[in-house]
Amino acid sequence: MKKLIATMLALSLTIAVSGMAMAGTWDTKCIGCHKDGNALKAPTKDQLLGKYKSADALVKAGMSSKSPMMKASQKEDVLKEAATDLYK
Ligand code: HEC
Repeated sequence: MKKLIATMLALSLTIAVSGMAMAGTWDTKCIGCHKDGNALKAPTKDQLLGKYKSADALVKAGMSSKSPMMKASQKEDVLKEAATDLYK
C-alpha cells in the first residue's frame, strides 16, 4: 500500500514538473516583469528580440544588467532556458 502511494506521488510530481517545463521558462519566470506595458520599464519580448540577435547575446545582456530587479534572475542556466524559449 505504501509503495502504491509512493508511486502515485512520484507520478503526479513528474506530471506537475513536465507541465511547468511545457509552459516555458520565459512564461513562468520572466513574463511577470517583462510583459507588454509593464510599469517596471523591463523590455518586452518583442523589444528584446529586436535588440538582441541571438539567445547568447540576450543571456549576456541579462547577466550584465545592473537592475536590482534582475538580481534573482541572473543565473546563466535560467537565462539560457528563457532565451531558448524566445528564439525558438
Ligand atoms: C522582478 C522583475 C524581473 C524579472 C523576474 C526578470 N526581469 Fe529582466 N529586467 C527587469 C527590469 C526592470 C529590467 C530593465 C533594467 C534596466 O532598464 O536597467 C530587466 C532587464 C533585462 C534584460 C536586459 C535588457 C537590456 O537591454 O538591458 C534582459 C536580457 C532581461 N531582463 C531578461 C530577463 C529574463 C530572460 C528573465 C527570466 C529568466 C528576466 N529578465 C526576469 C525585471 C525583471
